[in-house]
Amino acid sequence: DRRPSLRSEGPSARAPPPFKQPFVIGVAGGTASGKTTVCDMIISQMHHESVVLVNQDSFYHSLSDEKLQKVHEYNFDHPDAFNTELLLSCMEKLKRGQEVSIPEYNFKSHKSTEAACKVNPSDVIILEGILVLHDPRVRDLMNMKIFVDTDCDVRLARRIQRDTIERGRDIQGVLDQYDRFVKPSFDEFILPSKKFADVIIPRGGDNDVAIDLIVQHIHTKLGQHDLCKIYANLFVITSTFQI
Ligand code: CTP
Repeated sequence: DRRPSLRSEGPSARAPPPFKQPFVIGVAGGTASGKTTVCDMIISQMHHESVVLVNQDSFYHSLSDEKLQKVHEYNFDHPDAFNTELLLSCMEKLKRGQEVSIPEYNFKSHKSTEAACKVNPSDVIILEGILVLHDPRVRDLMNMKIFVDTDCDVRLARRIQRDTIERGRDIQGVLDQYDRFVKPSFDEFILPSKKFADVIIPRGGDNDVAIDLIVQHIHTKLGQHDLCKIYANLFVITSTFQI
């Protein structure tokens, strides 16, 4: 018998199509750099794929009452401010195709709310946040790493506007926090993580060309996934015929 040894028999010949691993994208960058806009632009161009956006902010540790009393001394820009173990386990489950519950974080109360958000596994998973490229275990889950690189004056101006309007802060508090924690942590943790990025986007959401190139790349990669699926199905069919 000179038939190839890859011949398949019995029930395995009717095996379900192989599981298609989601394409995981990490989007990092300093505060108010336009990460959310970049993610929204990518999502708006994904017409045939299911996409889910996971925000690193959802994994902030809730502040205890004791820490809340001294909130102005708390560094929200340090890696330890996040529950990275929970983030990792949620991302690993989503990558395996399982549904997860992700906490909802409130920037006014500095606490995670009880009502967790259910997230379904999808073709594309985008993980966005200031420090998503910091931890090597989180980076290892990603198929594509993006750093949104926006001028720090522009970021500070946006941050003042956003924090006073949306997050219930006063201007002096925003400036003090920026000076004491946000800028030093950017220099110590966020900027050094830029070297891990595959793509650096200058000007964030204003850069249509960069977004188009990224979307083209994702489509190409997901197309390759589909080709693998077609080849795998062909293999099942041909080996069934050989029995
Ligand atoms: N932060 C805060 N208070 C908290 C939790 C976080 O002020 N209770 C701040 C941290 O100082 C950190 C910022 O929130 O710098 C992280 O959010 P940011 O990345 O600025 O928000 P995005 O909307 O994701 O930014 P972008 O404009 O890039 O989309």
